[in-house]
Amino acid sequence: MFGQIQDYQKKKNKVIINYEQHSGEVEFISPSIVNFFAPISNQRRFSRAVEEIKGDNNISFEVTEDVGIILKTEQLKVVIHDQFKVDIYDKDDEIISKDYRGERKPFIRRGKGDIIAEEGHQIIKGNIKNRIEVLKEMTGEEYFYGLGEQTGPLNKKGYRYQMWNTDDPSPHVESFESLYKSIPFVIILKDGLAYGLFFDNTYRSYFDLGKESSQYLYYGVDNGNLNYYFIYGPSIKEVVEKYTYLTGRTPLPQLWTLGYHQSRYSYDSENRVREVADKLREKDIPCDAIYLDIDYMDGYRVFTWDQEKFPNFEKLISDLKKQGFKVVTIVDPGIKKDNGYLVYDEGLSNGYFARDKDGIPYVNRVWPGESLYPDFSSEEVRKWWADKQNTLLETGVAGIWNDMNEPASFDGPLPVDLQFENEGHQTDHQEIHNVYGHLMARASAEGIKKYSGKRPFVITRAAYAGTQKYSTVWTGDNQSFWEHLRMSLSMLMNLGLSGMAFCGVDLGGFSFDCSGELLARWVQAGAFTPLFRNHSAAYTRDQEPWCFDLETERIYRNYVKLRYRLIPYLYDLFWQEQKTGLPIIRPLVLHYQDDENTYELNDQFLVGENILVAPIVQQGQLARAVYLPSGRWVDYWTKEIIEGGRYILRKTPLDTCPIFIKEGSLIPNYKVEDDLDSEKQELILDLYPGDLNYVHYQDDGESFNYQKGEYNLYQFEVTCSQGLTISINKIHQKYKSYKKFTFMINNYQAEEVLVDGQPHFFQNDGNRVLLVVASDVKEIKIEQ
Ligand code: GLC
Repeated sequence: MFGQIQDYQKKKNKVIINYEQHSGEVEFISPSIVNFFAPISNQRRFSRAVEEIKGDNNISFEVTEDVGIILKTEQLKVVIHDQFKVDIYDKDDEIISKDYRGERKPFIRRGKGDIIAEEGHQIIKGNIKNRIEVLKEMTGEEYFYGLGEQTGPLNKKGYRYQMWNTDDPSPHVESFESLYKSIPFVIILKDGLAYGLFFDNTYRSYFDLGKESSQYLYYGVDNGNLNYYFIYGPSIKEVVEKYTYLTGRTPLPQLWTLGYHQSRYSYDSENRVREVADKLREKDIPCDAIYLDIDYMDGYRVFTWDQEKFPNFEKLISDLKKQGFKVVTIVDPGIKKDNGYLVYDEGLSNGYFARDKDGIPYVNRVWPGESLYPDFSSEEVRKWWADKQNTLLETGVAGIWNDMNEPASFDGPLPVDLQFENEGHQTDHQEIHNVYGHLMARASAEGIKKYSGKRPFVITRAAYAGTQKYSTVWTGDNQSFWEHLRMSLSMLMNLGLSGMAFCGVDLGGFSFDCSGELLARWVQAGAFTPLFRNHSAAYTRDQEPWCFDLETERIYRNYVKLRYRLIPYLYDLFWQEQKTGLPIIRPLVLHYQDDENTYELNDQFLVGENILVAPIVQQGQLARAVYLPSGRWVDYWTKEIIEGGRYILRKTPLDTCPIFIKEGSLIPNYKVEDDLDSEKQELILDLYPGDLNYVHYQDDGESFNYQKGEYNLYQFEVTCSQGLTISINKIHQKYKSYKKFTFMINNYQAEEVLVDGQPHFFQNDGNRVLLVVASDVKEIKIEQ
């Protein structure tokens, strides 16, 4: 496609290489992030994912010529050849990634696909040739992670995926090549070293990770430009950090958003909503949010509500607020075609809807019947949409749920030549499709920020790389299948590695009927997922925690309460995530990259670095193997100390999800309350002794004042030689402090406790020490 190198020029951080056909650009974003760009379809470098790079704009690198053009930074050596083939070495000259030089060798599909399809089998049309193709050599030793929420296992080796946001409610299985989100970012781990490839092109694209051939991985796209980033780790952590440096990070959320959320398609009247809210309180199940799905609207007209079913909409919301609930309302993109309906009239008269190629506003069908699609690729439309959020915010609504934004359509797919404004660079649906949901979520977040002044809470189904800056995501319409509980773990781990730190699944499953046992097992995993929301479809069995039997209800309550205890730990993880991009739910390989046993652990995850969860994902399973990486681990339930670096077997009666805490951990807890609204006076510190240094973050949990410095950082340093010493250092103090700290020191017995040098009251309670101190103490010494 490119031909031979003719000449090249160096310009700042970039080298531009002129080939016989086309030119290629190689730009250093940092010494370990390189962008490869070739203007195949146009000259545009405009990105929906990489909005601003605050990096060093003067990166030093050498350029020399040998067998190719050699570019050398302090971390990488990039060699550019004819045909814009690229080989990348580390600073010790070890090869990291090599472009494949041969031809593609797709496998043959024998027999007649058509006849098989006639019987109803799904046939995979494969081996598509794309206009832009990138092939990188594989040796067979690679592991692949990322790519968002795709089906299949944690390691994507041997799978092929398509980036094309798709609303397909049939049961999501491994033959699905695309789901609701397109995140064209893959992490490759080989010989213990990791790098990432991020292909920033929004058109329909293909990833083949060793399915077509074991010799190469393949990326292909038919339109747009060649535009990809090579991101060197060598740790997966660094790859994620650098990828989120490019595409942005999830901003600190409001505290209540980390609580439990109760949803249903639909709580469709004021009475039903009040009934569910009362029941949650009566049953002592903490909860912070209730969702209103499409039936709250007047005839599915967005930014309206049904006056008959919700005669006192604002009163309902303010009453719920008094009970500690926030309300989240769904807002879909499809605008009902309906003269006299304000949103439609405004959209039409201002030319805000996507148009067909003759310039006529395009109509398809979604929930409201005939509907039009706002053109979110236009800044003006996004501003209009942002302003519309206020209709709901004014009533007291606290969060917005964006759905059907792939965009979904009931009368066949949207035509590929549908026209979009695209910030003045008019384009068609093919380019906008994968960012439609991303841009909608962005407009929603901007509106919420503008009108509420609080940190926006948006939940979106469709997304592209970078959506994490605006919204939380969920994995769409799963089913109440054990299989989907199992798959949700790898989906969430890969979403996290793909920058989507704030993610969740419909707990209990959306379609089909849940069972008590499935719900009990699902809440055990769900209690650790960043977005913790039970949601289910119309006509399915009720799925609220009390709808099965008392045992399910008891287990559900206990795990929701466990979640509420862990809120400050989760909030700390979000605080750190803003700085590192590291997800909340993590595959073990993220922290144990040298341990091959962790590379394909699909059914265990870490929450942060200190909590390991091994949920039960099969019916009737009363024991399971758990892999504990090296070091010592403490069983959360029994406090037994276990040597890691091996598999252990755990009994798992229905109420037990195996949870382990890394020795040398301090897990901050809150006392469990109905909701997270009240001001916290006490921080409980669940200590698993070992030398450690932990920083805890505290702020008002909702405003942007933290950006002005109004927050606290408490540093706890624990050392275990000659008894146990806890030093507390307030490294930042600009917010109202807790009144007291309650320490629970596990697997420890005290003889004497000195607080700032003075003897202090304590209790040896079973196998732990309990101790309450004022929050301004500096040092606690515990003699054994
Ligand atoms: C879609 C959503 C689902 C929602 C339903 C009705 O199927 O994925 O969560 O309940 O639409 O709005």
